[in-house]
Amino acid sequence: MSNRYPPLNPRFPHLWHGGDYNPDQWPEDVWVEDMRLMKLAHCNVMSVGIFSWVRMEPAEGQFDFGWLDRVLDMLAENDAYAVLATPSGARPAWMSQKYPEVLRVGPDRRRNLHGKRHNHCMTSPVYREKVHLINTQLAERYKDHPALLMWHLSNEYGGECHCDLCQDAFRTWLKRKYGTLEALNQAWWTAFWSHTYTDWSQIESPSPIGEDLVHGQNLDWKRFVTDQTVDFMKHEIAPLKAITPQVPVTTNLMGTYPGLNYWRLAPELDVVSWDSYPRWHQFESDWELGAKIGFVHDINRSLKGGQPFMLMESTPSMTNWMTVAKLKRPGMHVLSSLQAVAHGSDTVQYFQWRKSRGSSEKLHGAVVDHAGHEHTRVFRDVADVGEILEKLDDVVGTTVPAEVAVIYDWENAWALADAKGLRQGDKGYLSDCQQHYLPFWQLGVPVDVIDMEQDLSRYKLVIAPMLYMLRPGVAERVTEYVRAGGTFVATYWSGIVDENDLCFLGGFPGPLRPVLGVWEEEIDALLDTDRNQVAPSSGNPLGLSGDYEARELCALAHAETASVLATYQTDFYAGMPALTLNAFGQGQAYYIAFRGGDTFLGDFYGQLVADLGLRKVLNSDLPQGVTAQLRTDGDRDYLFVMNFTPEVQQVMLDGAGYVDKVTGADAGRSIQLDAYGLAVLERQHA
Ligand code: GLA
Ligand code: ZN
Repeated sequence: MSNRYPPLNPRFPHLWHGGDYNPDQWPEDVWVEDMRLMKLAHCNVMSVGIFSWVRMEPAEGQFDFGWLDRVLDMLAENDAYAVLATPSGARPAWMSQKYPEVLRVGPDRRRNLHGKRHNHCMTSPVYREKVHLINTQLAERYKDHPALLMWHLSNEYGGECHCDLCQDAFRTWLKRKYGTLEALNQAWWTAFWSHTYTDWSQIESPSPIGEDLVHGQNLDWKRFVTDQTVDFMKHEIAPLKAITPQVPVTTNLMGTYPGLNYWRLAPELDVVSWDSYPRWHQFESDWELGAKIGFVHDINRSLKGGQPFMLMESTPSMTNWMTVAKLKRPGMHVLSSLQAVAHGSDTVQYFQWRKSRGSSEKLHGAVVDHAGHEHTRVFRDVADVGEILEKLDDVVGTTVPAEVAVIYDWENAWALADAKGLRQGDKGYLSDCQQHYLPFWQLGVPVDVIDMEQDLSRYKLVIAPMLYMLRPGVAERVTEYVRAGGTFVATYWSGIVDENDLCFLGGFPGPLRPVLGVWEEEIDALLDTDRNQVAPSSGNPLGLSGDYEARELCALAHAETASVLATYQTDFYAGMPALTLNAFGQGQAYYIAFRGGDTFLGDFYGQLVADLGLRKVLNSDLPQGVTAQLRTDGDRDYLFVMNFTPEVQQVMLDGAGYVDKVTGADAGRSIQLDAYGLAVLERQHA
């Protein structure tokens, strides 16, 4: 039975290919050439107007859309489409000059001057009014334009403002949340260092010149910033939805950007999209980085429960803001573009179409270089992507059937980042989550990446590295999930604090203690060079036999109802549990006490995949650095077999009947992948 999501916009039911297009930086004869080049590059959807406010409204209340009319008309005449942006990501100088309140105030309480972009107050009534006006104008003018496919809200919402308007809004938010000052003081544990507030007006946003050590306050401020951004975003959406209810709305997210909890933005958007800028060929092997990027794509797909997302920006060659702006090696452009599609994207979009001539992004990668023509390596790479995408119409609207979920939770990341203890600096939360994800990527087992609020019952295996914070109800849902037959994996430093960053009393991992069957009494932090050893107990049910390394974090835990599968080998806690298994209800809960390396996690999850009978995309062994990802409509399967190594690789297929979607040929029983090569295969859904 075939089951698909509708296309992003049914008016163009293909995989979209294009990118940020800034014709307002160029004279009109260049636009004509752009149209010719877009066809050659197989580009069909352009993001227009992202930073064009002053061109749309050169003076207050005086609108000029003539140029934009011509741009959209030209696109339509050339069978291309537009993702049309609201221009709030940057504002005209006249506005900042006349209404300084639209400019942001920093945590040091200094107001910014006009300049750069992304520099506006989310609270300012004047800014909101101006945004409402221009969004209304855009929607009214283009509601029936044949080029319009989607709204692109602003650009990369982010940052925070500490102006007086925002301070008032923060206090209002707190009053609504806590009701009484007493409740707030209790939640924030303000008796510490005489921080008790005796009047609401004393409360300010966190500041390096004021209060920034009250963890509950820091957390609430971050929640407020997210809520205020969502509120601003809804304010942007309102006129668009009122006038063009049929046009979907998105905004470009930034992966694991820590400033906003994207799970709160997603429900307000019709489609999730994100901007991906991996540092290929730099600090780690490309396949290790490839797995990390796969993880982020999976977040974006999971944000709307499996619905296809958009790769809204990526660079066609290099990224000028990186410390070292290395070029993508041959093959990497096609591979990294199709990787997004493999994980659920229905688009490949770039920043940017044409390299600007001046200012700070004139040296950023672009489809059309300063040379101005199509005879470049990068242009050919882009055209190659376009040609492949044109053969993948069947993939549109398909999704990824994941039986495994990794929990990566923004608020947990905030609390961990603020925690003073164990090891200063990065607590390794994101890297832990990505490390636990890696074995599945290597085996070709699809994974969802969710936050702690999501429904767990659809998964056979749920992995929650360092679930330090437990919001109300989470431990109960995990417990229910395991009782009903699920398999849950937790690690050291879980169940330490509640939603207010107050430590659980009575023993860690707090409310997860019964389901995990362990009591974590202490946790040892190691120096970078320190190591402990972990040895599996003989006859352990996972059949683990290696001698594994423990580094950085080693919890000292007591098995209460759990059985011990491995123990530490050295130091004063030699013999204490390093890995436990608690049979609970119909299910089981594993607890990993130590931070291990890839070898341990590879062995551990490899065995769980076998024991739980988790579906692999390809039932054959993949060479290291090669992954297989799957999209399906429940009837036809589309496999993306991707080689993230610079060597040629051979991959055995697990049967006959595979068709190469790009060449149309029968794939035979094995395929050869070039360096950074990939194959898209189709088969009947198993
Ligand atoms: C971000 C922005 C773009 C551009 C690129 C450059 O993603 O959204 O406008 O500045 O970075 O990498
Ligand atoms: Zn403000």
